[in-house]
Order: sequence, then structure tokens, then C-alpha cells
Amino acid sequence: PTGTLRDQLARPLHDLRISVTDRCNFRCVYCMPKEVFDKDYNYLPHSSLLSFEEITRIARLFIAHGVEKIRLTGGEPLLRKNIEKLVAMLAELKTVHGKPLDLTLTTNGSLLARKAQSLKDAGLQRVTVSLDAMDDAIFKRMNDVDFAVADVLNGLDVAHAVGLQSIKVNMVVKGGMNDQEILPMARYFKGTPFILRFIEYMDVGASNGWKLDEVVPSAEVARRIGAEMPLAPVAANYTGETAERWRYLDGGGEIGLISSVTQAFCKDCSRARLSTEGKLYTCLFATRGHDLRALMRNGASDAEISGAVGHLWAARGDRYSELRTSNTAGLPGAQKVEMSYIGG
Ligand code: GTP
Ligand code: 5AD
Ligand code: SF4
Ligand code: SF4
Repeated sequence: PTGTLRDQLARPLHDLRISVTDRCNFRCVYCMPKEVFDKDYNYLPHSSLLSFEEITRIARLFIAHGVEKIRLTGGEPLLRKNIEKLVAMLAELKTVHGKPLDLTLTTNGSLLARKAQSLKDAGLQRVTVSLDAMDDAIFKRMNDVDFAVADVLNGLDVAHAVGLQSIKVNMVVKGGMNDQEILPMARYFKGTPFILRFIEYMDVGASNGWKLDEVVPSAEVARRIGAEMPLAPVAANYTGETAERWRYLDGGGEIGLISSVTQAFCKDCSRARLSTEGKLYTCLFATRGHDLRALMRNGASDAEISGAVGHLWAARGDRYSELRTSNTAGLPGAQKVEMSYIGG
């Protein structure tokens, strides 16, 4: 039977996040700090990347297990050559209920103005864009490559103009770095078609030097915004949604709060992640993945790969964020994989 797969905590598999490249043209301080991701950094060679055919094959097998939503991530997914081609291949797939897939992509927006139309034409439905500040100097300090706010805003406008739906903006809040931008961001996006979401700074990977005292709790974000622009809670769109939704009382739209640190949402986590080189991770914070590329390149059948995925999901007990403490987060060594590799 399809779609009945459950893990050890009875969580279904609904959501597959696929990293299509481990490269990025930004060097966000919380994700790919320059000191680590410098010119000597060993990115994956092209032969290691899953091909579009391999990605589509895996996607099809996941869909048979109940996946209804696929998100392309990275690194910066729009840096992957001919990404529109992959979008077109995935857009043809149907869920087990015969509905179109919810197909989306998370991007830093730098190439969006140029690519929005071709992505839309290829069958992309929606897009999520990262933006960490309205102030140019602060944004540039965060992306660390001198990229201007106006270019991201232009990308957003083009994405909207070509008809991409329910466009969201993700802001990672790092205390002492961009938390003074919470209100300017809220003011700017209030009343626009874009849904702004605030993300608590997380201890992903092993290179961002995460400290608990740099996390600005979502409750504080809501307090600061609500004091100026009153808010009321809104019910989740679906079980396991990452963001807690709030709407402006004056009808100015809604915001989202993603509180992986102060209010972990592992209980309903239905997300699997496929790394750039085809390893399956059942948690963003996992230290090891399962090599699906090896299975494929060694000639495994669909049934064999599908069986492996089913077993891995059935055995899954991950709930890292619920177990995190300030002690576990800072563990020495480089066990945790980087977000640019596993996919945000
Ligand atoms: P929607 O389809 O718009 O609801 O998207 P989403 O929230 O599933 O995806 P998005 O890429 O916009 O996720 C926003 C951010 O939430 C990510 O960039 C991560 O920072 C965080 N996030 C997403 N999934 C997980 C997860 O499984 N665990 C944790 N700890 N954080 C996650
Ligand atoms: N904590 C929280 N969010 C992060 N992202 C990248 N690194 C982190 C982190 N350490 C976000 C990006 C983007 C999404 C893919 O993940 O800003 O919005
Ligand atoms: Fe690139 Fe996104 Fe990571 Fe920033 S957060 S370095 S844009 S992958
Ligand atoms: Fe899911 Fe792991 Fe994130 Fe918890 S920490 S929500 S289990 S990916």
C-alpha cells in the first residue's frame, strides 16, 4: 500500500527536500562563512552530483511512498546548470492521489529576476526567497559578497509578476547582527503579496560557530512586531508546518515564525532530505546519510531502492531539535553535515 509509511514516532513521509548543488554565490555568515568556504574548499565534483534523471527517478519512488511536496534547495539551486530542465521533469510527476506535486524552490534571489519566467514556464508553482535585512549595509555584512537588497527585491517582484504563487520571504534572525531589521522587514512586507517568515538561527552544520545567546526567540520577534502592528494567531495550513502563522489585525496579511530552537517542531516532521550527491538524510541535523546514489549506480532496481527508503523511514526516530540543549549543539568535531550540502 502507498502513503501509509510511518516512522517510529508515527510520522508520515510527505515532504522531500532535494539539494541540487552544494555551491552558492553568497557567503552568509550563518551558513557558508568565508573562513571555511574559501577558494580551497572542496566542493563536490560534477560526477558526484545526481543527474536530473537520477533525481527524477528517486523523486518518483518517494512519491509512491506518499511524498506530495518537493522543494529544490542547495546551496543556491539556481546555480545548477539547466535547473529549468529538472523542474520540467519533476513537474510532470503526480502524487499517489493523482494530483500535481507541490513543487517549489528556495533561493537567495540573486538570479531570480533573470530566471523566474523560465522557471514558471517549466512548471514551478511557487518560490521562497531568503532576505535577511532591508538595510544594505547589514544585508551585505550577512551575505558577505556585497549583494544589494534592491536586487533581491527586484527578483521578488519579477517572480510575482510572472505568476509564481504564495511567495515567501525567509529572514534568519541572528541576535546582534540583524535583529534591528525585524521591524523594517515587517513594515516593508506588510500588505504585500509576500509572506515574511522569521527563522531562529540554528546550529546546523559545524562551521557557523553557533551560540545559543545569538538566537532571538520567536516570542521576542512577535512581541516587537505586535507592539507596533497588532497580531493574532492563525491555524496551521497543514500538520507539521514549520512556521507558526500570525496575521495582522488590520488585514495587512500574515507572517510566520519558524522556531526550531525555542519551540521545536519535530513531533510532526515529515521531511526527508536528499543531499547533492544522493545521500538520504532523515533529519536536518543528521550526521550520516544513506547512499542512494551507490544503490542506483550499482544497478539496483526500483523495488530495491524503494524498499531501502521504506526501511530507513520506518526506522527513523530523529527529533534533534527537541533534544537540543546548549551543550549538545556545540559538540566538538565536524559530525553534523553542512546545510549547503544537505539542503536547507
Ligand atoms: P512551506 O512549504 O512554505 O511551508 O515551506 P517550508 O517551511 O517547509 O520550507 P522552507 O524552505 O521555507 O523552510 C524554512 C526554514 O525552516 C528552512 O530554511 C529551515 O531553516 C527551517 N526548516 C525547514 N525544515 C526544517 C526541519 O525539518 N527542521 C528544522 N529544524 N528546521 C527546518
Ligand atoms: N539557521 C537558520 N536558518 C538557516 N538558513 C541557512 N542556515 C541557517 C541557520 N544556521 C536558511 C537560509 C534560507 C534557508 C534555506 O535556510 O537563510 O532561508
Ligand atoms: Fe547561500 Fe542560502 Fe547558505 Fe546564504 S543561506 S550561503 S544564500 S545557501
Ligand atoms: Fe525534523 Fe530533524 Fe528538524 Fe526535528 S530537527 S524538525 S526531526 S529535521
